[in-house]
Amino acid sequence: MKPNRSILSVPGHKAKMHAKAAESQADVIMLDLEDSVPIDAKATARDQVVASLQNCDWQAKTVSVRINALDTPFGYRDVLTIVEAAGQRVDTVVVPKVNHPGDIHFVDRLLNGIVLNKKFTQQIKIEASIETARGLEQVTTIAGSSSRLKTLVFGVADYAASIGARLASLSGHGENEDAVYPGHRWHYTLSRIVTAAKAHGLLAIDAPYGDFKDTHGLTHAARMACALGCDGKWAIHPNQIAGINEVFSPSAEDIARAETILKANAGAQGNGAIAVNGRMIDQATVRLAQQLYDQAVHLRLVDNSKSKS
Ligand code: COA
Ligand code: MG
Repeated sequence: MKPNRSILSVPGHKAKMHAKAAESQADVIMLDLEDSVPIDAKATARDQVVASLQNCDWQAKTVSVRINALDTPFGYRDVLTIVEAAGQRVDTVVVPKVNHPGDIHFVDRLLNGIVLNKKFTQQIKIEASIETARGLEQVTTIAGSSSRLKTLVFGVADYAASIGARLASLSGHGENEDAVYPGHRWHYTLSRIVTAAKAHGLLAIDAPYGDFKDTHGLTHAARMACALGCDGKWAIHPNQIAGINEVFSPSAEDIARAETILKANAGAQGNGAIAVNGRMIDQATVRLAQQLYDQAVHLRLVDNSKSKS
């Protein structure tokens, strides 16, 4: 699977930003038709997204389109217009405010019909944004609802609104959380989403960080999400991409540690727990190290020939 560390959200009606996004180092570009687009620009944003999908050079990036929610007049039309016109270049459709597996079934069936009609050969995947209390209550059944599902994404601001949690910053997207709840205000929510995702073989992606000038705060939030098992994080500004990519890539120190563990394990020839530099490592440690090492290989940070050693 291609890397999914940084996902840059780009307003659908802003063509200039599409070109800039295509040149960026983001792993995924998400062309947004939902909350970054004003109501009176919904139709022109669709046309612009179709044009950009067809004309921009997206290189090896994954390209996704976020449709409007299914309880609006726009969501179903977004799927039809975008996928019929430019489905060959759509890797994933992001469905916001998923409340129920039926929301995913609906998009899945629409995609089935369009793919058959247009004879597309590639598989268009779905990403479910969990950002309501109802969605979180149903997250396990949502995660298992379709073979098209690739990702669960956490939508922090809408989730906070949905449960009536107090706005703690100007943007409402992940800043200043420590001040109102020491530790991590969304620890339970994010862990719940990560667990449902991983139980069904899906990726788990963290919400964006709204203060795009605060690199320290962004790194802190990304590290928290990475520690909880997230695979990546949304970005809302190009300045955020490098920091997110760095946090979600194994560091040289991480790789050296994994190599030490894998080497010691290979030398122990299948023994259970062994001591390495005065620390216990067992097969769970080895699984963690192997995962990290494989990720480093995948990102070409180490030599491929040593994978699965
Ligand atoms: N994608 C691509 N390019 C972007 C971008 C994005 N998300 N955000 C900013 N840029 C570009 C700007 O167009 C500008 O380009 P230029 O130097 O060629 O003129 C450059 O990056 C610097 O932008 P800056 O002036 O710092 O920000 P801004 O005031 O133009 O925009 C936001 C600030 C927050 C309005 C803008 O970043 C944005 O719309 N982000 C996405 C919001 C979104 O998608 N929300 C929904 C998901 S939560
Ligand atoms: Mg939202």
